[in-house]
Amino acid sequence: MCGIIGYVSEGDCCGALFDALRRLEYRGYDSAGIAVLGEKGFSVCKKQGGVSNLASFYAAGNTGVGHTRWATHGAPSDKNAHPHRAGKIALVHNGIVENYAALKAELEADGELFLSETDSEVIAKLISRAYRGDLLRAVHAALGRAEGAYAVAVIAEDRPGEIVAARYKSPLIAGCGREGLFVCSDIPAVAAGAGYIAKAEDGEFVRIADGEICFYDRDLRPVPKVFFRPQADLGAAPSDAGGYCMRREIGEIPAALRRTFCALEKTDFAPCARALRGAKRIFAVACGTAYHSALAFRDAAERDVGVPVLCCTAGEFRYRPPLTERGDLVVAVSQSGETADTLEAVRLAKERGGYVVAVTNAGCSSLASLADFTLVMRAGAEIAVAATKSYNCQLLCLWYLAAEMLFFKRQKYPDWFSSLQKLPSAAEETISLFSEIDRIADSLKDAAAMYFLGRGADECTAREGALKVKEIACVFAEGLAAGELKHGPLALVREGFPVFMTATQPPLFKKCENALAEVRSRGGFAALFSQSEEALSQSCADVKVRLPALPAALMPCIAVIPLQYFAYRMCLERGLDPDKPKNLAKSVTVE
Ligand code: AGP
Repeated sequence: MCGIIGYVSEGDCCGALFDALRRLEYRGYDSAGIAVLGEKGFSVCKKQGGVSNLASFYAAGNTGVGHTRWATHGAPSDKNAHPHRAGKIALVHNGIVENYAALKAELEADGELFLSETDSEVIAKLISRAYRGDLLRAVHAALGRAEGAYAVAVIAEDRPGEIVAARYKSPLIAGCGREGLFVCSDIPAVAAGAGYIAKAEDGEFVRIADGEICFYDRDLRPVPKVFFRPQADLGAAPSDAGGYCMRREIGEIPAALRRTFCALEKTDFAPCARALRGAKRIFAVACGTAYHSALAFRDAAERDVGVPVLCCTAGEFRYRPPLTERGDLVVAVSQSGETADTLEAVRLAKERGGYVVAVTNAGCSSLASLADFTLVMRAGAEIAVAATKSYNCQLLCLWYLAAEMLFFKRQKYPDWFSSLQKLPSAAEETISLFSEIDRIADSLKDAAAMYFLGRGADECTAREGALKVKEIACVFAEGLAAGELKHGPLALVREGFPVFMTATQPPLFKKCENALAEVRSRGGFAALFSQSEEALSQSCADVKVRLPALPAALMPCIAVIPLQYFAYRMCLERGLDPDKPKNLAKSVTVE
């Protein structure tokens, strides 16, 4: 979950490295560093904290590497920040070297002194020991000993104009940009200025030298690559472009839904028609927010298409009994398309004969490469660690997919297609409710814990609301099926304990109201979110927020918006940075 960048530029590369690091910062922000190779060797600046700490650093030289870190091995500190030096080598790494302890012990026994507590420094040492003037061979030899996951970029003091990079289970691309040739962990970080890029596959190496980018396979045989233009709408704008990214991205939900709907209408589903028609059951795999969208998909697919959907968090999927079989449809959802757990789940599902449909925001991601069919949502760049607009777009894509399934199974167009078109304007209307949410956040700013409840199709909203509050506002929050309240969680409800109820499914209004009555009778603070005048007017809730009315099945896409915004406001009330939540990073590329 670290971001890596390497540049061989026409002029000095320091500015290009810094700019790329700012765009990569969502991958981790506990430390950052740059190494530039100039006439007098390396100039290195690495510091604990955000990329802005490197702003005053400048060094002349056209070859360099940079890194923004999300700590795995070794606490965030200056010395654990990358790049790591060893002999003539400077290295940046994303991933985890799982056998680093054994390698480190071996190197220490042989007299090597380590300056950091990281697993990455072990690779730098191995490369340095293997280096005899041929950087590609040295990197190849060293990585032959590493187990785990890595994307590395390496430069050598006596090889100006050259970068060697390698990938195994951590994303890596190479391309040409306005500033020169680069390697990078992420497409969004370079999409805005990149001309053409190509992706490295697992086990491949990249060498930039003599103005060329060459790819090699695991035996160092040249690999031809197709270079392509990255999706321009993925170009990541750093958070200082004005306000917080999270707020900006919530405001972009209507436009993102519009773009996604247009893209879906142009998508040809014929290549996956057989799989959609034939599927007798579906496995839906994803993590975090994306998993919540899988829950919403389950609701629609089971109720309207009549196909059972087994939702599984991707990290658990591979450790459960392997039930996936030929003919099963596997729906994998991931904003980034690079989440390691989701990729592993998809690999396993494919080995077992499943047909994989991916829903992702990154059409050129690893997930898209693995999947049999990919639906690319058009949420645009999402920089804030908290997923917001991508969630709304995932729901739209997944419901559209369910509608296509119904069409292919029954040869009949469900009226969903026209209903889905109403989502963007309903989202706009919801955004106009934010002043009510400001008041709620203001009154709850000191709350130590809270519940989010919902039943049926509203359960995913409850869970997503709770996840947002946890990650952004750092307040304990639990998202529950409302019916579960009385089976234990009610024990915590006392004077002023906040409970948010989302009730948008008419047959369940009464049940939801019962739960709110239980909360109120214990002195809890109840907030109700519903589109139903009847449900609102008859409720005992302390606060009632009226949502725009849509067909009930589509309400989760709208009902979540006030909760996303509530989490953002709670975060501000508590003096935190919504774009850089504690301990988290945007794209989780380690298992
Ligand atoms: C959401 O706010 C989180 N940051 C996180 O749960 C995220 O959704 C999860 O890590 C999955 O990411 P992906 O969609 O890129 O696979």
